Amino acid sequence: MKLRIFFCLLALLIPACHLSAQGLAGSARDRFYPGQLWFDTAGRLINAHGGGILYYDSTYYWFGEYKGERTNSAEVGVTCYSSTDLYNWTDRGIALAVSDEADSPIVRGCIIERPKVIHNARTGKFVMYFHLELKGKGYAAANVGVAVSDRPEGPYRFVKNGCVNPGQWPADLAEADRAATAVPEDYEWWTPAWRDEVARGLFVRRDRAGGQMSRDMTLFVDDDGKAYHIYASEENLTLQIAELTDDYLDYTGRYVRVDPTGQNEAPALFKKDGRYYLITSGCTGWAPNAARLFTAESIRGPWQRHANPCQGDGADRTFQSQGTYVLPVAGRKDAFVFMADSWRPDNPIDGRYVWLPVRFENGLPVLRWEKEWSLDVFGR
Ligand code: GAL
Repeated sequence: MKLRIFFCLLALLIPACHLSAQGLAGSARDRFYPGQLWFDTAGRLINAHGGGILYYDSTYYWFGEYKGERTNSAEVGVTCYSSTDLYNWTDRGIALAVSDEADSPIVRGCIIERPKVIHNARTGKFVMYFHLELKGKGYAAANVGVAVSDRPEGPYRFVKNGCVNPGQWPADLAEADRAATAVPEDYEWWTPAWRDEVARGLFVRRDRAGGQMSRDMTLFVDDDGKAYHIYASEENLTLQIAELTDDYLDYTGRYVRVDPTGQNEAPALFKKDGRYYLITSGCTGWAPNAARLFTAESIRGPWQRHANPCQGDGADRTFQSQGTYVLPVAGRKDAFVFMADSWRPDNPIDGRYVWLPVRFENGLPVLRWEKEWSLDVFGR
């Protein structure tokens, strides 16, 4: 009997020892362990889901959704962690807190997803965009929210929310399609005729007056300082890329559509040697699916679709994850990290981070599963 208790205790201890090697308090990490528990420098689990990273003043700032154990709704807000090496992250607190005022669009209990922060060199401000769903309205609002701060870690002040580019046409929608009169009610979803009409702007026209829908999203700042908001629009059927004003607080009215009817979510955009790369997911909620890859010579398109960038075991489900950001590593040439989330909708706080190196093969990015890895894979 005693022996059995001893072996039971041993069985309990073995996984704990294993975990401690992966970054419990006090043990600095020098590797990534995709899909494993990831602790901050104080020994607490990192809680920054659907995140993105800002690199500013030699420091990385990781912003993400604070998730609880039972609900995906925003009970706390957007978290911020900082790091200088990408392995070890210090909790910098709540960057954007939910509000306790019932009439605030970001009242506790709303949905805040996929926050991204960029720095505006002209104004000196840090600008956060995020997917916002209004409390009690499910995913119906499809709003974008904007918040601003004078400091990278926050606190961020909520500025506004709404749909994108009210009154504007996408630059790449033909005149004839702008003038078309077909409405969604005329069609049965998923029929070939409906698909053709969606590609010809069926939902763009429906939403033009009030602005385009905006759900899964990211931000991208180009070499010339122009910033773009990339978001799942038109009932998640089509991605749109909208140019931001010079202060990053609004839209210029110029926007384009990517892969109409393609059902892309989880956009992550990056640039290498003057070419633009966009990795997305399909549209299956929290369940993982195969990633997609697009390239373009101009951010305004045309965007060309390629094969799934993932290869090897697990490639057809993006290694049980869904992308959220592609991070250019500072100081290393051609070094990019694909950041993804392995969602756990039954216990959202337990969602895991899957970070993988982006390798370039035959001119295109390739993602493969790594049990553990370090930035050394990129060379110096
Ligand atoms: C996913 C999306 C997540 C979240 C989820 C809700 O497809 O990428 O950010 O919105 O759906 O079901």
